[in-house]
Formats: sequence, C-alpha cells, structure tokens
Amino acid sequence: MKKRKKVLLPVIMITLLGLFSVSFHAIWEVRYSYDDFEKPGYCNQCHDLFYQQWDQSMMSDAYNHEWDEIEYFKLAVAHTENDPDIPAAVHEGCNGCHTPMAFLAGDMPPPDPKTNPRANESVSCDVCHNIKGFEGDIPFNHNYILEPGGPKFSARKGEVTSPNHEIDTTAFYRTAEFCGVCHNEKSPHDVWVKSTHLELQEGPYYAEGVVCHDCHMPDAPGKTAKMGARYDDAKMHLFNGAHDPGKIRGTVEIGMTPDRQDYVPGEPMVLTVTLYNQKTGHKFPTGSVEDRIVWLHVEAVDEKGNVYHLPVDKKGFEGEEYTIASEELAYQDLGVPLGIENFEGLRREMVPVGDRIFRMPYFDPQGRMTMMQWNAASLGVDYRIGPRETKVETYTFEIPYEVTPGELILKAVMNYRLLVKSVGEYLDVPEEEYTAMMVNEQETTVTIYP
Ligand code: HEC
Ligand code: HEC
Ligand code: HEC
Ligand code: HEC
Ligand code: HEC
Repeated sequence: MKKRKKVLLPVIMITLLGLFSVSFHAIWEVRYSYDDFEKPGYCNQCHDLFYQQWDQSMMSDAYNHEWDEIEYFKLAVAHTENDPDIPAAVHEGCNGCHTPMAFLAGDMPPPDPKTNPRANESVSCDVCHNIKGFEGDIPFNHNYILEPGGPKFSARKGEVTSPNHEIDTTAFYRTAEFCGVCHNEKSPHDVWVKSTHLELQEGPYYAEGVVCHDCHMPDAPGKTAKMGARYDDAKMHLFNGAHDPGKIRGTVEIGMTPDRQDYVPGEPMVLTVTLYNQKTGHKFPTGSVEDRIVWLHVEAVDEKGNVYHLPVDKKGFEGEEYTIASEELAYQDLGVPLGIENFEGLRREMVPVGDRIFRMPYFDPQGRMTMMQWNAASLGVDYRIGPRETKVETYTFEIPYEVTPGELILKAVMNYRLLVKSVGEYLDVPEEEYTAMMVNEQETTVTIYP
C-alpha cells in the first residue's frame, strides 16, 4: 500500500502589476511523485477494452500531441520567458489539465515529449479515477480533488469485486461537472477562454439530464474488466471529439430556400440558408475556440459549369467584422514568444473572403485578436451555433447577365478546421491539424430564363 501524503490544493489570487488577476493553483509544495500513479499499461492487464479505446483518444496524447507540444514550448513557456509581465504560473497551469501527474509532481516544464517521459501518459486512467470531487462551486482550471493510492472511483457499484483495488462509487462520476474541472478554463485576465461545461449547463440538454458522457462515453454492451461481469451499458472510453471527422460530420444541418423558383439575368435572388445544430450539447465550435474555425461557403454553378461565389449579407451587429472572412491580419502577439519585434501578424482566417464564420474572437490586452488563450483579456461577439439553435443567413445575389440559361445549382458547404491555416503553416504544425473537414453540404436548383 502506498502512503498517502497530505493534500493541499489552495487557490490563490495574485495581482501582478495591477494587470493580472491570476487565479491558479499555487505550487506551494510538491504533493506527489509520478510513482504514486499506476501506468495505463498496468490497468490494461484487466481493463483491456478501455485501455485500447483510451489509447486512441486525445486524452492519452494531451501532453505529447504535436500541436500541444508546439504551443506549450514555443509559445506558452517562451511567453513567460520573454515577457516579465507573464508569470510562470501560466505555463505551469497548462499541465494541471494536460498532464496532471507532472503538475502534481511539480515537474515543470515537463521533459521533452520525445524522450518519452511519464508526463506523456497525459490524462491517464489513474488521473481520472482518483478524482473524487472539486473545490468551490464551479468546476474550472483543474480544481479537482485528486488523491492517488486510494480506491478507484466510479459511478457503478460493480457486480464483481476487483482483486486488485478497492472501488468507491460516487454519483459525481456521472456528472458533467467531473469533466468541467478541465473543460472550463479562465485566463489570468479572468476571462472564460474555455467553457464547454458552462455552455452545456446553459443549454437545453442539461435540464433534461443529458451529460457529456451520453455523447462522448456512450453505453454499449460489454465487460468493464476481463474477469468482470457483462453489462448492457459499459461506458465506452473513446472520447471522440473535434479530431474525429465522423464526430464533426453532420453536426449542423443545412437548409436552403431561394425566394423564387425562376429568375432572368439582372434580377436579384435572395437565398436563405438555415443552419441547425442538431448534434452538440455545447456550442459549436467549443473548447479551444481561439484555434477553431467553422465557415459556410455558398456558390452558384450554371449549366456550363461557371462558378459564382455568393458572399453573405451583413446583419449589422456589433463585432460582425470578425464573423465575415477578410484579408485582415491578426495574432500579432505571437511576436512576443517568437522573439520577433513588430510582428505584422498572419491572415486572420484564410478562407474565401465574404464567407460567414461561426466563432468568438479572443482579444489580447492591446485589443488585437489572439490565439494564445492565456493572453486573452476580453472576448468579442459570440457568433457560434448553440445547442439546438438555428442560425439564419441570407445571400442577395444579382443574377449575372453572362449566366447560361437553364438550371442554376446553389451549393452550400460548411467546413471546419481545428486550427486557422495561416497559424498552422507559420508554426510548422502538422498539416492534419488544419486540413478542412466537411461538417455538411446542401444544394438546390433554380431555373434561369434567357
Ligand atoms: C448532445 C451530445 C453532446 C453533449 C451532451 C456533449 N457533447 Fe461534446 N461534442 C459533441 C459533438 C457532436 C461534438 C463534435 C462537434 C464539435 O466539435 O463541437 C463535440 C465536441 C466536443 C469537444 C471537441 C471540441 C473541440 O473543438 O476540440 C470536446 C472537448 C467536447 N465535445 C467535450 C464535451 C464535454 C466536456 C461535455 C460536457 C460538459 C460535452 N462535450 C457534452 C456532442 C456532445
Ligand atoms: C488485476 C486486475 C485489475 C487491475 C490491474 C485493475 N483493475 Fe480495475 N477492476 C478489476 C475488476 C475485476 C473490476 C470489477 C469489474 C466488474 O464490475 O465486473 C474492476 C473495477 C474497476 C472500476 C469500477 C467499475 C467497474 O467496472 O466495476 C474502476 C473505476 C477500475 N476498476 C479502474 C481501474 C484502474 C484505473 C486501474 C489501473 C490503475 C485498474 N482498475 C486496475 C480488475 C482490475
Ligand atoms: C477523462 C477521465 C477518464 C479517463 C482518462 C479514464 N476514465 Fe474510466 N471512467 C471515467 C468516467 C467519468 C467513468 C464513469 C462513466 C459513467 O458511469 O457514466 C469511467 C468508468 C470507468 C470504468 C467503469 C465502466 C462502467 O461501465 O461502469 C472502468 C473500469 C474504467 N473507467 C477504467 C478506466 C481505465 C482502465 C482507464 C485507462 C485506460 C480509464 N478508465 C480512463 C473517466 C475516465
Ligand atoms: C484531468 C483533465 C480532464 C478531465 C477530467 C477530462 N478531460 Fe477531456 N480532455 C482533457 C484534455 C487536456 C484534452 C485535450 C487533448 C488535446 O487535444 O491536447 C481533452 C480532450 C477531450 C476530448 C477530445 C477533444 C478533441 O479535440 O477531439 C473530448 C471529447 C473530451 N476531452 C471529453 C471529456 C469528457 C466527456 C470528460 C468527462 C467524462 C472529460 N473530457 C474529462 C482533459 C480532461
Ligand atoms: C483548465 C484546463 C486546461 C488548461 C489550464 C489548459 N488547457 Fe489546453 N486544453 C484543455 C482541454 C480540455 C482541451 C481540449 C478540448 C477542446 O479543445 O475543447 C485543450 C486543448 C488545447 C490545445 C488544442 C489541442 C488541439 O489538438 O487542437 C492546445 C494546443 C492546448 N490546449 C494548449 C494549452 C496550453 C499551452 C496551455 C497553457 C497556457 C493550456 N492548454 C492550458 C484544457 C486545458
């Protein structure tokens, strides 16, 4: 049996230069060592199904996944080194969610992922199954209460006892708050830069008792352990999310309604496009909203194959300019960690100019759009699609005189990138992190008379 050490999880408020109001867990003492946690391979001896699933998920790569590695070392750690106003607690805090063992062991920054340190175990079995609650009223910024070496927590009182460990059941395991400890994040400027759990709580699903698990850990018949009982509702450990094109596909249903059936050249057509979020419990996109980009591209194709791009009609709300693709530059604050003076920035979206974008911009203390969420001092307009929400866009298009008479096909495609392409290219992030994935498509036709 391992001896349990005293736990101290104090939350401190530091005010630095009157600029920062930092609310992070202080690293006052190193609470545990890596040896206090079992390796996932150890659980695999008996929980082989869940191990296989977890191993394919982002949870098992949260520290060593390449884009995380680049953002952590090249941007977050470098930012605290290059700017005296950014406290080290900023990069230390990343590990509280991405590799909790390293965080609790005080190993920060953790070793280079290429040397295969234990920090690579990331969000491991023994990290999650030793969490027994959280501090305060709102789960966020890794405010979990985590004590290794005790019983394994679960929501199920199994029919079989484990030969290896005690089991303690707690209803907490079946709540969205369990996930919220890492899926809600506040920046040092007191801004919610990740709020997946809060979005679920505000939306229609939460009141109906739907939790994260229903969509990300679905029930399926199977054994939870090799020598255990068979259950009809074993909780799958795949955690499929935005990295799974299949999870992304169909998130939004597209409807298209032209104002008439037929037109002659020179006449205006008003096309209405409805976008219904039929799949997520939170907003779309959620989580790392600073990186993600969802956009709708609409075009008309005539009988000879000529393509006309339809830019979206402006609605006139405040901050709308951030929701329509342009050639603007942004992300100038990347210059600080990268050590480039007067960095001119990168293309803000790099998608066809005039397309509607569903996003919420984050702004740095100078009011420039940032993709370093820890540097976010304010948020812009929230033009994401809420759970079960329908957004309506219109496209006013004057039928060109050169259009070939006959059928005109109107096409709408919603695409999604995990990371804005310009940023991915600039930072040498593997291409798969910014390859466009199709969310959905739709088409309809109208007739053009000569
Ligand atoms: C009703 C089903 C549903 C519920 C409930 C739900 N999700 Fe999702 N989630 C989805 C779908 C579908 C996607 C893929 C589309 C997307 O990226 O938003 C997704 C995506 C995600 C992503 C990837 C986002 C990104 O851009 O990286 C995360 C993380 C996530 N969900 C976590 C959660 C958490 C945590 C909860 C509970 C607080 C939750 N989800 C509740 C359906 C759901
Ligand atoms: C020597 C085999 C063995 C090892 C190693 C083992 N477990 Fe288990 N565990 C079991 C058995 C058997 C059950 C009971 C399964 C059942 O309910 O039928 C169980 C139950 C559980 C439960 C409760 C849910 C349930 O299915 O009843 C959790 C949570 C759990 N184990 C987590 C872990 C974690 C995390 C590790 C690694 C740190 C681990 N176990 C290592 C055999 C093992
Ligand atoms: C991100 C946190 C997280 C990680 C990582 C994780 N689990 Fe779980 N696990 C859960 C939650 C939450 C439940 C309970 C789901 C429920 O009852 O709705 C659960 C349930 C279980 C159960 C019981 C399943 C059931 O149907 O009752 C076992 C056994 C288990 N986990 C083992 C593992 C093993 C082994 C690993 C690593 C290979 C692992 N878990 C990784 C969160 C996690
Ligand atoms: C200890 C912290 C922690 C807890 C608890 C946790 N997660 Fe996560 N989760 C993460 C981190 C960190 C990532 C990001 C992995 C990456 O991309 O680097 C992640 C990734 C995910 C993804 C994949 C997102 C994608 O982009 O594909 C989903 C889905 C997800 N979590 C759902 C859940 C659900 C559901 C729960 C609760 C049952 C939960 N998480 C609990 C830390 C946590
Ligand atoms: C409160 C927990 C938490 C903290 C603190 C945190 N993250 Fe994350 N991070 C997550 C979760 C959860 C996800 C994935 C889910 C999502 O995107 O919704 C994520 C996603 C990411 C991603 C995107 C991964 C991808 O594949 O697209 C990067 C990069 C990242 N984090 C880096 C950092 C860095 C660097 C820091 C510190 C400055 C940090 N994170 C702090 C929880 C956290």
